[in-house]
Amino acid sequence: MKKIMVSFGTRPEAIKMCPLVKELQQLKDVNLYVCVSGQHKEMLQSVLDIFGVSPDLNLNVMTEGQGLQELSERVLDGMSNVLKKEKPDLILVHGDTTTSYASALAAFYLNIPIGHVEAGLRTYNMKSPYPEEFNRVSIDLMSDLCFAPTEVAKENLVREGKAKECIFVTGNTIIDALNVTLSAESTIDFEDRIKGRKIILMTSHRRENIGEPMEQMLKAVNRIAEENPEYVFVYPVHKNPIVRKTAYQELKNGNIVLTEPLDVVHFHKLMSRSEFILTDSGGLQEEGPAMGKPVLVMRDTTERPEVIDAGCAKLVGNSYDSVYNGVNELINNRDLYKEMSTKAFPFGKGGSSQKITKICHEYLVRER
Ligand code: UD1
Ligand code: UDP
Repeated sequence: MKKIMVSFGTRPEAIKMCPLVKELQQLKDVNLYVCVSGQHKEMLQSVLDIFGVSPDLNLNVMTEGQGLQELSERVLDGMSNVLKKEKPDLILVHGDTTTSYASALAAFYLNIPIGHVEAGLRTYNMKSPYPEEFNRVSIDLMSDLCFAPTEVAKENLVREGKAKECIFVTGNTIIDALNVTLSAESTIDFEDRIKGRKIILMTSHRRENIGEPMEQMLKAVNRIAEENPEYVFVYPVHKNPIVRKTAYQELKNGNIVLTEPLDVVHFHKLMSRSEFILTDSGGLQEEGPAMGKPVLVMRDTTERPEVIDAGCAKLVGNSYDSVYNGVNELINNRDLYKEMSTKAFPFGKGGSSQKITKICHEYLVRER
């Protein structure tokens, strides 16, 4: 029997790969092996629990405040050993993380075919997002199957010389995840602090924003919270210790609720109740438009230009003034708010996991 290995390690990869794992589990003539790197710990486990996915192996690589080189080494080493032992006929990796890059590299050195889910996204700036742009480009170079979420992503790959037969436009599996989470039950344990108020849901964690940019972004948020008491900011703070220190140091206003990371059901439910989203995340740019929630992106670049073109998201940069002005504009300009609140589905309306599963199955049959 042919074998597919699925590898992931962080929260966003897990959210987008679990629906695919569920679909791959339906294949009767394929063995599935799920290996998680454990690049994230609690934030990964929470997603696995919600989707009911039990990995065959967890490499448990996470250390506090891990650096890119040590993390890459541990994943490369761990994945090489698993791949040598399990000898899959295809490995599936996701997006742009260190886990995905090092897993793909391990497979490439062992001549194991690679399928890249969420291929072809680009900013064409190696420093933003850093190191994710490099990771994604490199994984695409090594991949035999590229699952591009949109035509824009496909065109990027074609322009770079990827053979058209390797590229499949599938939409994004995040929509499959949303279809699960938004129909689940949940109650928020800080409900008394947000009930009846206009919610601005925010997150921030990008490596290139850590330090001075993040301090300035958060100072701007503090001032906006002070000047607009009818709004409440909810900020589930990423587990990264440097991000936590900055967030708890800078954000003192009573109109800001700082919480632990929320599980993905709570997070998506809260998102659907929010006025808008303020973030430097990648995934939130995909989720906001599908829920009709405007997204202000605290970055200068995005690898998801589809959401800007659809008018659902805006790049507000990462300086004090640009964040302050960008948020105020959305609070005060009701026409802009209305325009940005129109639902849009540049990443499809679901069914991506099924499409990817079918293509992988056909590939394995062809290679038999
Ligand atoms: C990683 C990804 C990034 C993605 C993000 C999602 C890379 C290079 N970056 O960045 O693309 O957007 O995940 O959140 O792969 N930590 C915990 N518990 C957890 C998770 C993290 O304590 O469950 C702490 C650890 O101290 C860890 C630190 O956060 O060392 C940073 O985690 P890491 O995965 O290295 O970087 P992220 O910024 O999360
Ligand atoms: N998310 C979550 N709980 C939180 C914050 C985010 O479940 O407290 C989800 C969010 O819905 C999205 C994903 O995590 O699907 C985004 O992860 P993150 O912002 O860490 O990474 P990125 O998308 O930037 O790679």
